[in-house]
Amino acid sequence: MENNIILEGKSISKFFGGVKALQNVDFQLKKGEILSVMGENGAGKSTLMKIIAGVHRNDTGELLFDGEKVSFRSPIEASEKGISIVYQEPNIFSDMSVLENLFMGHEIVNKSGIQWTEMYTQAIEALKLVDLDESILSLPMGKLSIGTQQLVLIARGVFRKCKVLILDEPTSILSYAESEKLFQIMFDLKKKGVSILYISHRIPEILRISDEIIILRDGHLTGTMKVEEATEEKVIEAMSGRKINMNVYRKRDYSKAEPILKVQNLSRGKTYQNISFEVKPGEVLAFYGLVGSGRSEMARAIFGEMMAQDGKIEFKGQDISHITTKEAVDRRIFYVPEDRGTQGLFAAHSVKKNMSASFLKSMSGLLGLMNEKEETQRVQNNIDTYSIKTPSQNTMVMSLSGGGQQKVLLCRWLLEKPEVIILDEPTRGIDVATKAEIHRYIMDLAEQNVAVILISSDLPEAMELCDEMIIMHKGKMTGHFTRDEITEKKILKRALDLETD
Ligand SMILES: Nc1ncnc2c1ncn2[C@@H]1O[C@H](COP(=O)(O)OP(=O)(O)OP(=O)(O)O)[C@@H](O)[C@H]1O
Ligand SMILES: [Mg+2]
Repeated sequence: MENNIILEGKSISKFFGGVKALQNVDFQLKKGEILSVMGENGAGKSTLMKIIAGVHRNDTGELLFDGEKVSFRSPIEASEKGISIVYQEPNIFSDMSVLENLFMGHEIVNKSGIQWTEMYTQAIEALKLVDLDESILSLPMGKLSIGTQQLVLIARGVFRKCKVLILDEPTSILSYAESEKLFQIMFDLKKKGVSILYISHRIPEILRISDEIIILRDGHLTGTMKVEEATEEKVIEAMSGRKINMNVYRKRDYSKAEPILKVQNLSRGKTYQNISFEVKPGEVLAFYGLVGSGRSEMARAIFGEMMAQDGKIEFKGQDISHITTKEAVDRRIFYVPEDRGTQGLFAAHSVKKNMSASFLKSMSGLLGLMNEKEETQRVQNNIDTYSIKTPSQNTMVMSLSGGGQQKVLLCRWLLEKPEVIILDEPTRGIDVATKAEIHRYIMDLAEQNVAVILISSDLPEAMELCDEMIIMHKGKMTGHFTRDEITEKKILKRALDLETD
């Protein structure tokens, strides 16, 4: 039996100051299996992965690798043993090329120096694994969309020979086709005897691809199950200790309202072409498409961040095609970006500062002054409503779990009474319970006559929330349906631009 297990954790605990991130966690990873780790935001999943990968040291307990007690002092030590990790927060070097990013810390060097040609040849093979073209190798990493960056990081993780591969929420920014590709790669690796530790908040995919599942809640292990015995209800119960209702849609009658936003033939090179739509106050319009289909870029044009080259945007009858971001905020047109790392959060600041209106105030003179006490109260309300796990309001936002950071970013905008709000992947990396809360909040916004534009690569989410849905493929609109017309099959066909029926 024993030699069937590649990695074993016994009574692992980890503390960050007063925060008990992990308490007496036991797990076993078998050779050639996919073991999924589930749990709500802040449950301790990434912390456990980082201990295994040598980023953090555990405070108590022991880790056995191939039957031998190990304690990695650095990620390099772990990687030399054959443990490879793709982190939840993409750690990229934006100014360096894709090639350099692929080999960072693992450059091929011999007596005559760095072997660029050899690296280039290997890099082409690595990119092939994730269906990316070699032409991107010389581009700066920062030029790629975050979806593509993620695929490059996955390529980096999987192509090096390893015995244990850790994937911490790899699919949170991937959509259908990319995720499917990844699962195929995982199955191939499994056949070769590689063991995979896999984290995701998407329960259907977990049930499909895992062999076993372990579940954490508040740093404790609350479940270990074989996938055959797992059900959605059981998993949710072990994660959150209660049942969650994901059906949030409420019908509203906004049909008589005038459209608040009209977009006509909006184009920017090949990024997006001839995009036309209208949205009314109280309506939820969803944009579904694969990563890189041009949805975010189009949204940024409406927000005055990256102007379109052609076409027209009208807000309440006024041409706003050339507005600045400040002018957009003045009109209460908000955009919550998908990339919390570079576009959203102020990394070196506290939770409070990141959530408070003061940043908005500096963008717009319109928002009234708030006193310190009021502000503290509002921030606390947010922390409670969205169960954000943070020791205090003054904690640095970067020490929160991935989902915790995402919640902070959302809170900043949601309570500012928008007229139009564009939510770009709002629940990326958010656990099921909080996702349902955010969905309910989006419904509330619509009921308060806010026009909601939802960009989501999460198909169940887009289908549940939308009144209408536009589907995009490579910058073009390939479908526009009302809620009643939607079927999953129809949407996927358009999103992949297959022959339509
Ligand atoms: N470097 C750190 N310093 C202080 N606290 C930390 C640090 N890393 C994690 N924590 C805390 O430890 C707890 C567990 O965080 P972790 O990132 O492991 O959660 P997670 O399960 O991965 O959540 P998510 O689904 O949001 O990614 C959280 O309360 C988090 O704020
Ligand atoms: Mg995490």
